[in-house]
Amino acid sequence: MKYVLGMESSCDETSAAVVRVGDDGRMSIAANIVASQIETHRLYGGVVPEIASRAHIEAVSGITREALSGAGIGVGDLSAVAVTAFPGLIGALLVGVNFAKSFAYANDLPLVAVDHIKAHVAAAYLSDEALCPPFLAVVVSGGHTALFDVRDHTDFRLIGSTRDDAAGEAFDKIGRVIGLPYPAGAALDQLARQGDPGAVPLPSPALGGDTLDLSFSGLKTAALNYIHHCEQTGVPVPRADIAASLTRAVTAGITKKAGQALAATGHKTVVLAGGVAANSHLRAGLLQTAKKYGARLSVPPVSLCGDNGAMVAAAGWFEYRRGHLADVSLNASAEDEP
Ligand code: KG4
Ligand code: ZN
Repeated sequence: MKYVLGMESSCDETSAAVVRVGDDGRMSIAANIVASQIETHRLYGGVVPEIASRAHIEAVSGITREALSGAGIGVGDLSAVAVTAFPGLIGALLVGVNFAKSFAYANDLPLVAVDHIKAHVAAAYLSDEALCPPFLAVVVSGGHTALFDVRDHTDFRLIGSTRDDAAGEAFDKIGRVIGLPYPAGAALDQLARQGDPGAVPLPSPALGGDTLDLSFSGLKTAALNYIHHCEQTGVPVPRADIAASLTRAVTAGITKKAGQALAATGHKTVVLAGGVAANSHLRAGLLQTAKKYGARLSVPPVSLCGDNGAMVAAAGWFEYRRGHLADVSLNASAEDEP
């Protein structure tokens, strides 16, 4: 049995987790402690980077101790320390990276740098024992919307992505304008159930033709214009209809490109990951698309869709196994590829 510590601090959750890896390679979560800062940022309607960094500093040592005690292990039982090194808010990332570097150095443990996007995908291995590359990964989060041809546990090829905003960003922005608390995604998911998805005409985020790229900025602007028009003409804003129409447009756009990607790659498995993978409409829509292409959908439970340390530990294990190690010169990067 091996144990990997996973640290996450790229945005507004500080998390430390311990994942155990059996001799047969099976992974399971021994502890996954998530300290969310959502309540703090809610006051401002979005993440305030400086406040996020400070909150990570306050939480990081305590949650690491909690993760180890929750897993019932000591530092000496760990095989490696994995940390999200990119992409994300630079000040926030640096807290986790510096903590992990010091922790690994002080305890003479191997250090592994993890890509946050690959970590979201790795969450699926924790809930789906049968999952094995190659497969198509659809990553939808607050900062990303991308399709990957996953060749192997650590080898990802980007085959499509948003050219501007992320899907989660569109949900959060429109949700805020219709009065939902930050982050609006989960509340919008619920509100969409009460509305008519055909009520508000919105453009598709799926670009035409063979490209697997998407664009959410036009959709966001169209929804905002519709809301402003209602306000200016004194018509009550149909909040539920907007939520339902926006959700339908996002779901249809992503599932369309996922379908094209399944056809292009021939993959028979599709993984849905990232914070927005918690969306019930997107989960149902992608399940339909997967069926249409004779593919299997693998999606982590909602508890593992948002940012967490367990997914970082899982992704870190695969990098560690490949010998991809970092050292004390490791730096964080705000960008996708440092
Ligand atoms: O992956 P994540 O926790 O952070 C990033 O890496 O960006 O994703 C956060 C995003 C937010 O935009 C949030 O509104 C969205 O995930 N989200 C949802 C749902 N739950 C969280 N979006 C739609 N439906 C949900 N149920
Ligand atoms: Zn994330």
